[in-house]
Amino acid sequence: MSRDPKIESPVGPRHVAIIMDGNGRWAQARGRPRLFGHHAGARRVREVVEACPRLGIEYLTIFAFSTENWKRTQVEVAGLMSLFRRYIAKETRALAANNVRVRFIGDRVRLDTKLVELMDALEAQTCGNTGVNLTVALNYGGRDEVARATKRLAQDVAEGKLRPEDVDEETLPKYLDTCVLPDPDLVIRTSGEARISNFLLWQSAYAEYEFIDTLWPDFTAAELERLCRSFGTRERRFGKVPA
Ligand code: FPP
Repeated sequence: MSRDPKIESPVGPRHVAIIMDGNGRWAQARGRPRLFGHHAGARRVREVVEACPRLGIEYLTIFAFSTENWKRTQVEVAGLMSLFRRYIAKETRALAANNVRVRFIGDRVRLDTKLVELMDALEAQTCGNTGVNLTVALNYGGRDEVARATKRLAQDVAEGKLRPEDVDEETLPKYLDTCVLPDPDLVIRTSGEARISNFLLWQSAYAEYEFIDTLWPDFTAAELERLCRSFGTRERRFGKVPA
């Protein structure tokens, strides 16, 4: 898998975004509580991150917790927050050793202070890394992100830093959480559901989508490779007519 035109192999996606769905059903199928599935799901993340360099993936963005996920039971929400704290503490060394640069997107205001401290520390510790760019969407919602971005943009207009007539398609993305990331080329959702659930709404305007039946805890690097190869065979037109 390569993006170098001199190398004859399918051109893979530069930025892959994944909606990691199906942890609950995976656990339920084993007669276990939903959190058992989330823990199994968290263990899949490392294999997927480690496969990225080989597949030519420079950016990987994963949906860990949505602005709507607060509607789950208090037990599940608390369990997920505890999992995120433990995951960051446990994975920091491996992420650093793998030269991974980690970023978080989403609204941190509602997250607990300890978790935010761990997120800030991991971002700071990996900010000099030059390998895979891993972005974790945590308390993230596409509509919430656009609303927060619009608020900041409106503030700049109110303060005279930006003229309304200068606002165009290039302006708004500069205010999004993803301002330093390229748009995703390929969005994958596991678990057989064919919806995007408020994930990267603005950024995915021209993404290719893959909705696959595999439940997230069963997702493997081999499956990611298959999806990347399939992506390489697609003709992306971006509104143009075929060549
Ligand atoms: C969706 O499955 C999954 C989530 C809401 C949580 C995603 C979290 C992880 C994969 C774990 C950890 C991630 C990191 C970055 C450490 P679901 O609960 O909706 O499953 P269901 O549709 O089968 O109920």
